[in-house]
Amino acid sequence: MNTQFITLDGIDGAGKSTSLDTIRQWFEAHQLPVLFTREPGGTAIGEALRQLLLNPETQVNSRTETLMLFAARQQHLDEVIKPALAKGTHVVCDRFTDATFAYQGGGRGLPLADIAVLARWVQQGLEPDLTLLLDIDLAVAQSRLAQNGCQDRFEQLDSAFFERTRAVYLQRAQAQLQHYRIIDSGQSLAKVSTAIHQALNHLFGYPA
Ligand code: TMP
Repeated sequence: MNTQFITLDGIDGAGKSTSLDTIRQWFEAHQLPVLFTREPGGTAIGEALRQLLLNPETQVNSRTETLMLFAARQQHLDEVIKPALAKGTHVVCDRFTDATFAYQGGGRGLPLADIAVLARWVQQGLEPDLTLLLDIDLAVAQSRLAQNGCQDRFEQLDSAFFERTRAVYLQRAQAQLQHYRIIDSGQSLAKVSTAIHQALNHLFGYPA
């Protein structure tokens, strides 16, 4: 069986943490070797960049922000993701390049074509086999974030930013449905779990 590179993405407040637990339990139940990691982060330099990127005190322009994200991603690919896949470990990454298209392209308004150039340069053809996109109504996401209290540099952005971000996520997923599974994360937790199980079963060739 090929090793699989799976990513999980969606706007802040879409419920990634709960879905990651579901994915973790699915891998445990199937006794498959897997590595969970995240972006920005996953390496020493990546986690240092993450601190800067999420800190509300950081002042940075959108292009620099994008380069910091791709710098973290390059190191993450070389040091963690590619070596794991090469030794037969599946990789589940909490956010990946879709987030850059959505947040920096959609949200910040940078040209998607420029992000695509950086993605090609950094990824050298490596793309996720499956991206689980958690889609959620903006008002629900914002109320979840408000409940969590203290917000990072991205979570503080306004709802217009997240509307644009969500729109790019959906456009990308709808353009390549063979690699994406759009999951309505406004549904009950049980339904979200079922949708995740179905997507993973399909990817790994298990019965639905
Ligand atoms: P999270 O992983 O806890 O959701 O936080 C990461 C934040 O970084 C989140 O608000 C989205 C943002 N982000 C980008 O803006 N672009 C990216 O490429 C990535 C990976 C994350």
